[in-house]
Amino acid sequence: MSDYDVIIIGSGPGGYVCAIRCAQLGLKTACVEGRDTLGGTCLNVGCIPSKALLHASHQLHEAEHNFAKMGLKGKTPSVDWTQMLAYKDEVIEGNTKGIEFLFKKNKIDWLKGWGSIPEAGKVKVGDETHSAKNIIIASGSEPSSLPGIEIDEKMVVTSTGALELGKIPKKMVVIGAGVIGLELGSVYARLGADVSVVEFLDTITPGMDAEVQKSFKRILEKQGLKFVLGAAVQGVSTDKTKAKVTYKLRKDDSEHVIDADAVLVATGRRPFTDGLGLEALGVEMSKRGQIKTGSDWQTNVKGIYAIGDAIDGPMLAHKAEDEGMAAAEQVAGKHGHVNYGVIPGVIYTHPEVANVGKTEQELKEAGTDYKVGKFSFMGNGRAKANFAADGFVKILADKKTDRILGAHIIGPSAGDLIHEVCVAMEFGASAEDLAMTCHAHPTYSEAVREAALACGDGAIHA
Ligand code: FAD
Ligand code: NAI
Repeated sequence: MSDYDVIIIGSGPGGYVCAIRCAQLGLKTACVEGRDTLGGTCLNVGCIPSKALLHASHQLHEAEHNFAKMGLKGKTPSVDWTQMLAYKDEVIEGNTKGIEFLFKKNKIDWLKGWGSIPEAGKVKVGDETHSAKNIIIASGSEPSSLPGIEIDEKMVVTSTGALELGKIPKKMVVIGAGVIGLELGSVYARLGADVSVVEFLDTITPGMDAEVQKSFKRILEKQGLKFVLGAAVQGVSTDKTKAKVTYKLRKDDSEHVIDADAVLVATGRRPFTDGLGLEALGVEMSKRGQIKTGSDWQTNVKGIYAIGDAIDGPMLAHKAEDEGMAAAEQVAGKHGHVNYGVIPGVIYTHPEVANVGKTEQELKEAGTDYKVGKFSFMGNGRAKANFAADGFVKILADKKTDRILGAHIIGPSAGDLIHEVCVAMEFGASAEDLAMTCHAHPTYSEAVREAALACGDGAIHA
């Protein structure tokens, strides 16, 4: 048994970042992790492996579609799936080992095993019970499936199985046109699969800017993805070689069946808190199974905090990281803070899709007077040269004060471009502030400036 200032349960982006910040603030810190490697969902079966497969399959797409246009001729690469998976695994290993190195460097003890909290101030891992002045739960989330669907992680898979399918399917059905469905659906479409995405709602990526949704769907369709919208999946049946997905169209209740070699169920994730003993401790939970916390990330039980996917808010790695740093500061007696109004969201397809702040829909509902500055990547020289002119930047600003309220980008490197708007919003900048900032030429970020100019007297290259 050891005494700690802080024990963190879970080593995902919330937990490991929190542990490092606690150690940097001089607290004696341990982190409990039940997996064989550190890094949580994100590094092992989430952000990092999915981005590796997106990167590899994008290279293939470029070679097939754009190389010859630039005078790069020759044999188009073929796919060695085993090697692609090995590359992905190597990327995971490099990243998870990196966290192990950071733990050693910061003198954080990794308590290996599944942790539970027998009482406030105590964490049990295996046969050992450790004491801690503060406990921070960062136990993350797990895929949620649908009734009538049995996941075998071979033919009917969640994102975890989709990152290591035995072979590239000829036909894939994706249930859910959210972030996971579209990222991993893109991967397999680029690798040659016939991908159909079945979505309950009438739009893809619910909650996103409506113009972006429309343009995104059109671009993905050009890339070969098929969409069945407004469809309620009834169930999935399998035999040895095939799966059958049955759905009903909501508009007329007609029933349809699609067969597939693989089915990816991507209908959301739910908090994972099994085995922690929260019920016995009396920790308050929401109806959706999230741990309830106050603005200092403390639960109703003194000394027990929670962060990341296990609590309310977007299930994003960077949101978990920010909460990890802020909760560490709270525990150390400082003033940790997260600005939930400025958390970007990115979909890493090609083109990327990124957003921050309010959508037009939200501004309308709040009765806010706003203006829109929009600029198409067709007017951006660099994007045109790189066959990446599909998409646009849209900036929303307050009509009276010109203060930036949100931004929505679909286009090349959208996930990087969004951050200049995030910084501007953190500083309370106006669209004119962005528009008056000199942007290097030729860069994609000129499109952000042009959208800001369009909030005022007009974009130049429109
Ligand atoms: P997690 O990363 O889920 O980590 C929790 C850890 O706690 C796990 O390792 C678990 O084993 C451990 N644990 C749980 N209970 C216990 C216990 N009792 N004892 C010991 N250990 C325990 N987000 C992005 O921002 N960008 C992306 O590109 C992105 N891509 C994604 C792609 C996929 C396919 C998936 C599934 C998710 C993706 N996400 C992405 C979401 C992101 O992975 C999560 O938001 C993030 O990992 C949440 O971090 P966390 O620290 O809260 O929890
Ligand atoms: P999601 O919430 O993004 O999308 C789920 C989709 O499934 C929604 O469009 C929903 O309407 C649909 N759906 C729900 N029930 C359905 C049904 N019965 N039939 C058909 N469609 C149905 O969830 P997803 O894609 O599983 O991702 C989970 C989480 O992981 C997200 O919260 C996301 O933030 C995170 N993530 C983030 C990534 C990123 O930041 N790039 C990448 C991957 C995941």
